[in-house]
Amino acid sequence: MKRTKVVDALKCTDFGKDINVKGWVRSHRSSKAVDFIALNDGSTINNIQVVVDPATVDAETLKSITTGACLSVVGTLVESQGKGQTSEIQCKEIEVYGLCPADYPMQKKGQSFEYMRKYAHLRLRTNTFGAVFRIRHNMAIAIHKYFHDHGFYYFHTPIVTASDCEGAGNMFQVTTLDLDRVAKVGEVDYSKDFFGTKTSLTVSGQLEGELGATALGAIYTFGPTFRAENSNTPRHLAEFWMVEPEVAFLDQEGLMDLEEDFIKYCVNWALDNCRDDLEFLNKMIDKGLIARLEGVLNSDFVHLPYTEGIRILQEAIANGKKFEFPCEWGDDLASEHERFLVEEHFKRPVIMTNYPKAIKAFYMKIDEEESGFGGKSGQTVQGTDVLFPQIGEIIGGSVREESYDKLMGEIESRNIPMKDMTWYLDTRKYGSCPHAGFGLGFERLILFVTGMQNIRDVIPFPRTPKNAEF
Ligand code: 4AD
Ligand code: MG
Repeated sequence: MKRTKVVDALKCTDFGKDINVKGWVRSHRSSKAVDFIALNDGSTINNIQVVVDPATVDAETLKSITTGACLSVVGTLVESQGKGQTSEIQCKEIEVYGLCPADYPMQKKGQSFEYMRKYAHLRLRTNTFGAVFRIRHNMAIAIHKYFHDHGFYYFHTPIVTASDCEGAGNMFQVTTLDLDRVAKVGEVDYSKDFFGTKTSLTVSGQLEGELGATALGAIYTFGPTFRAENSNTPRHLAEFWMVEPEVAFLDQEGLMDLEEDFIKYCVNWALDNCRDDLEFLNKMIDKGLIARLEGVLNSDFVHLPYTEGIRILQEAIANGKKFEFPCEWGDDLASEHERFLVEEHFKRPVIMTNYPKAIKAFYMKIDEEESGFGGKSGQTVQGTDVLFPQIGEIIGGSVREESYDKLMGEIESRNIPMKDMTWYLDTRKYGSCPHAGFGLGFERLILFVTGMQNIRDVIPFPRTPKNAEF
């Protein structure tokens, strides 16, 4: 008999028909007259109830079926008497694929997420992680659909690279050199390395993405990125996925519109396509989740120049607000500042713009003196970061400096090794054009959409300092 997925069996109203479902036991309740087995196969958050007459199954076998066991069940689909489900199965035959001994780490309900992280290979089978990873899949689909429908080409940028896009120097090196020998010799000859030069895992596909955008018009990347920063926070991973659209002929206004429209599309997609999982998370994890998602859809994002943001923060401090870190003009904002602006002051998402040049990457377009944004001529850049409730920075973006001379000035004043950058500079040398783009941290989007609190719980196998098991 062909297997029916639980998601389809629960929707089916063909009562009286025999079906076959397969899945893992979520719970097993016994009484004298009847056993109830809740079965889940990952196709939906909902379980199908299997009603077993104990007289029809070998007593030992029935007893051995505990939470986590894997079964194949044949039975009659009947209308459910219970609340909240349409159909259930009157069991005729059970085949046990795999029993689940009592030391199964996911046996008990209500374990902490910290506990479950130690069992990243098994936590996937719990309700919460099932919901999170079905939503994660749906968000990936939404991203491709959004860009495809808006005329962007999916552009694959390299994972192994010789350039440091963000210039922050926190890259993981890639080498085939024998490190033990290198340590003894004392100096490294990279001409003998696999690529003949020093290479690392990429921190961002942007620079190569700009090559794509200045040829194809509009591209997006969507792939893994790596940062060897020792940030042990609920918002940072060493390996995370980034979505990076890059568009020719886009200015700052257009970029902000794209950021807002794109995020709203993704949030709306979740509300339309992940309803059961969202309702589960709203009930079990975060009672404000669905209201917050709807709130984002219904609010216009604030456009806030950095200088104005600093003014608001200092006004708050003058009125008694306490922050751990300082926020003078020129400081990089800490997440407490970002969250104050978003959650307390404006109560909606904020796109912060026109930051001091010194705290942003070399490639951002320098504001003209008369822009009026900075109060300090030529000292601000057209960055456009999106700040979200609960999350802080979810998008980092900017208009790119298209002037060869200005870009060169930044490369030189920041001591960025030029020999690695000629291919990038050629975009400014040959037919340079205004262009802009951004990077969305995929896991930060998933955090927002699921209401989960820790970024380690929205990627199946998180990589963080001192942790790369599985
Ligand atoms: O702001 P970032 O560093 O920007 C860039 O890398 C640009 N090159 C993007 C571009 O313009 N094409 O990173 C972009 C986003 C951040 O806003 C954040 O959401 C996420 O990537 N991000 C991280 N997510 C998880 N763990 C980390 N360690 C992250 N670092 C950045
Ligand atoms: Mg950033």
